[in-house]
Amino acid sequence: MNIPLRILLLAFIASAQAQTENQVPLTSTTTPTDIWTTLSSRFGDRVLKGAPFAQPCFANSTSAECASVQELYQNEKARTAQASGYTWGQWETCQDTGTQCLLDFAVPTDSAATAGPDSCELGSIPDYFIDVRGPDDVIAAFEFSKETGIPLVVKNTGHDFKGRSSGRGSLGLWTHHLKDISYDPAFVAEGCSDAYPGVIAGAGVQFFEAFQFAEEHNITLVGGSDATVGLAGGFTMGGGHGVLSPVLGLGADRVLQYKIVTPDGQYRTANACQNEDLFFALRGGGGGTFGVVLEATILAAPAAPVQVVIVTWAPTARSTARTEALWGLIGEHVIEWADAGWGGYAMPELALFVTQRLSKDEAAASMAPLIAHAEKMREEGVEGAGAMVLEFPSFLPFFISFMTDAGGNAGAGKVGYSVSLTSRLVPRASFATPHTRSTLLTALMTASALPAPDAPLMIIQITAPTAARPRTSRRGARASRPRGARPYTTSRAWGCGIGMRQGRRLWVTPDAAYLNEADVYEPNHEVSFWGDHYPELATIKMKYDPDRLLDCWQCVGWNPDSERYACYL
Ligand SMILES: Cc1cc2nc3c(=O)[nH]c(=O)nc-3n(C[C@H](O)[C@H](O)[C@H](O)COP(=O)(O)OP(=O)(O)OC[C@H]3O[C@@H](n4cnc5c(N)ncnc54)[C@H](O)[C@@H]3O)c2cc1C
Ligand SMILES: *[C@@H]1O[C@H](CO)[C@@H](O)[C@H](O)[C@H]1NC(C)=O
Ligand SMILES: *[C@@H]1O[C@H](CO)[C@@H](O)[C@H](O)[C@H]1NC(C)=O
Repeated sequence: MNIPLRILLLAFIASAQAQTENQVPLTSTTTPTDIWTTLSSRFGDRVLKGAPFAQPCFANSTSAECASVQELYQNEKARTAQASGYTWGQWETCQDTGTQCLLDFAVPTDSAATAGPDSCELGSIPDYFIDVRGPDDVIAAFEFSKETGIPLVVKNTGHDFKGRSSGRGSLGLWTHHLKDISYDPAFVAEGCSDAYPGVIAGAGVQFFEAFQFAEEHNITLVGGSDATVGLAGGFTMGGGHGVLSPVLGLGADRVLQYKIVTPDGQYRTANACQNEDLFFALRGGGGGTFGVVLEATILAAPAAPVQVVIVTWAPTARSTARTEALWGLIGEHVIEWADAGWGGYAMPELALFVTQRLSKDEAAASMAPLIAHAEKMREEGVEGAGAMVLEFPSFLPFFISFMTDAGGNAGAGKVGYSVSLTSRLVPRASFATPHTRSTLLTALMTASALPAPDAPLMIIQITAPTAARPRTSRRGARASRPRGARPYTTSRAWGCGIGMRQGRRLWVTPDAAYLNEADVYEPNHEVSFWGDHYPELATIKMKYDPDRLLDCWQCVGWNPDSERYACYL
């Protein structure tokens, strides 16, 4: 399993060359560098050598460069700005061999991490990246991969929870610098006739840029909870949910058009009127699978005030009974709330609900049971307990207040450690009767009580497109699983140290998970992620990628035996 395929390929290519060069014997100068040299003659200084984020500290732990790495080690923006920067430590490492180049996440300044015998190794970071600037780059990269057998990975921000944007011995196609963004109030997809307000965004645009842009243009865009995830990449291609999704739909629902280079070397436009099969596959079929997207046009909604209701209490007042009471109450009302246009998140000591559909007074009335619950807790003297009803003039100020820290990072803030999670989509039927609700609640409480070295986190995401009206008909239907109303996605994250396979699922739910936030070892993943759509997606995959130049973990049409997965456990 660990024989580096690339070495074999190099030997193969070298022997082919040797034959054309009159049987010149193989020499030790035939190193990987030779292949990469052909790449740099094609791409010049846009070929970047893979270099772990922490490398400067292994080179010289007292240098200014190392001090900067230590300071930014847990910083999402800094990591996403580098080709080799990844959000989660384990996807930089080769988990199977343990080769890596990491600092101590908890104390990045601890010099013990760089003092040991371990040298700094690439792990799963691609050997080289191409800083992609246009379709010709991608076309050439596909040719290169076809000629050399060197695997490709598409890397945008490196947020992936399943290691799909890194890969040992690969060539990374880095889309980060595709930052163009513009607004067309009457965008007509090529070959179509209906006009929609659309934001045309390069694949490298991140949410903090997109939400800022939306604010400046007096529009609203559906995005996720994290400032540095990409707007057009893995998010829309995996489905993409956010607090506005109950009303506005998933990220995938809002794509009007993609511009993409497919692995057969064609630069294509995919929308409801051309390459419809590809358009369908791209909206939920998963990133890194059907081609390299260079640009997406995203349907814009009008700007509107955001109503927020928050219920919380102090971590010092944490108790299982209080969490159970909160989640039980939410379970009773969540369908009614989601149908009224609320989206949000619940955690052990927090519920945050958001809507653009109601006025401030209507919001307070609609959430009266939740607000009363918090008031009662406050009267009982629970530390820090209370409810707040807030109004923000538009989405950006809400997002900045709740979803980012002072540095513009995600509310959860720190990254750079190793993380493992699992998620479940919960069907509407689970909320239908007191019995089904109580079964679900018991399962949630059991799952959230798992022992974990770091604070375990259960997030109940009320972000399914419950009340959204589909804009397009059958052919425009999206490929990802959550078609029916599924108001919850639960996810649970914990630090490294616990075995990667210990994610416990909610057995009361069907085989349905959000592919971007799923267990790495999701069983029955075709059904969990795509349900009935899988066979059709697999056909579309083979049509546009007959040589399987793109392949990623648990992606449509993947080859689980591929050497490219040698670093997975
Ligand atoms: C802190 C955090 C918070 C999150 N919050 C949310 C949330 O609220 N809602 C939500 O839905 N998701 C959320 N996610 C999950 C997120 O949507 C996925 O991780 C997503 O895949 C990230 O896409 P990316 O392009 O930014 O990242 P990458 O890791 O660079 O890419 C992810 C996948 O998409 C592929 N890909 C990326 N760009 C392209 C492209 N241009 N063409 C083809 N394939 C491409 C990659 O090959 C890879 O398979 C969160 C993730 C993190 C880490
Ligand atoms: C490491 O960096 C420091 C600070 O710049 C410098 O003084 C020192 O000479 C460097 N050490 C080596 C081995 O290069
Ligand atoms: C912003 O958009 C809203 C909703 O369409 C509209 O009511 C408002 O007048 C617009 N504001 C500006 C400054 O254009």
